[in-house]
Amino acid sequence: MTSPKQSGLKPLTILGLETSCDETAASVVRRDQDGTVTVLSSVIGAQFDKHAPFGGVVPEIAARAHVESIDAIAAEAIRASGVGFGELDGVAATAGPGLVGGVMVGLAFGKAVSLARGVPLVAVNHLEGHAVSARLGADIAYPFLLLLVSGGHCQLLEVSGVGACKRLGTTIDDAAGEAFDKIGKSLGLPYPGGPALEKLAVGGDAERYKLPRALLGRKDCDFSFSGLKTAAARIAETLTTDDERRDLAAGVQAAIARQLSERVDRAMKLYKDSHAAEDLRFVVAGGVAANGAVRAALLADCEKNSFSFAAPPLAYCTDNAAMIALAGAERLALGISDDLDAVARPRWPLDEAAALANPANAYGRKGAKA
Ligand code: KG4
Ligand code: ZN
Repeated sequence: MTSPKQSGLKPLTILGLETSCDETAASVVRRDQDGTVTVLSSVIGAQFDKHAPFGGVVPEIAARAHVESIDAIAAEAIRASGVGFGELDGVAATAGPGLVGGVMVGLAFGKAVSLARGVPLVAVNHLEGHAVSARLGADIAYPFLLLLVSGGHCQLLEVSGVGACKRLGTTIDDAAGEAFDKIGKSLGLPYPGGPALEKLAVGGDAERYKLPRALLGRKDCDFSFSGLKTAAARIAETLTTDDERRDLAAGVQAAIARQLSERVDRAMKLYKDSHAAEDLRFVVAGGVAANGAVRAALLADCEKNSFSFAAPPLAYCTDNAAMIALAGAERLALGISDDLDAVARPRWPLDEAAALANPANAYGRKGAKA
């Protein structure tokens, strides 16, 4: 077990870059000798207005927007940090998984900084960024049980160190954030649907509409949200009043929170079999971790199973570059960096072995499916 506070590693100042979806982000993070993490700047340029008319992210529009704004956003992150390019110890860029056109933009920018400034490049897995994001707000030791729950992913992982993850469960169809977004669209809410649906649900009657519960008979830690999505879309078509829409939003939010909480409860029981009492730590990360009902349900799991609970500060739940800079700093502190020929990977599972064990995830042209 390594605590960042005990590692006694050299201080590192890292520029992080994130361009894997619809946020262009740059951040400067310092990781001191005693392991203290300080976010010196975190700049996020969201592209919501560019994608909103289409009800979802359009990859070509995203890639173009990243090209247009990465220069200014990186310059602003450097300016706001008070640290010059010359004081950087390294640059960390998301290299996947994600929309490959966008990933290429941030990675190429990172390579240019690395080459021009003579500092090492770290090609960061976006999911590893989410995995370390809670450490931006608190000193969390390894190992921990992680629920990674975002627009593109819904996975339970045992994280035992930097880059060392074992997958306990994943979604067999949609991610939880994707379900929030798609059901939000059925309810006529703007993209992204998650935060809008949470607002709509306030004061709603979650019991009014009967919604399906997925994979009830199974004993594993996998998720499924497509049945809920279809059922909610059918009901949404029949609604006429704001009260009805509010009650459906509340029901959907409760159903998603309940499914996440049931699988986490199972995963905690598995994790307990192979971990000592002092290692019972639970971390939730990713955009859906911003949801209050989801957090409350997960907190109840932690109380029931005697796990400590940690989530990133709200600002670092959704995509940001501070988490990428920190993932890069943790790798650099262990002497791990990448060559300038690092490639952008549309698919890049954190636990490649588990992903490849399923024949449906065969290693194709784009790599193993996550
Ligand atoms: O981590 P993230 O920014 O991007 C991915 O890597 O996917 O997560 C974005 C997802 C979206 O699906 C969004 O609707 C969801 O997180 N989200 C929320 C909330 N805030 C963001 N879902 C439910 N409630 C929220 N408050
Ligand atoms: Zn993300």
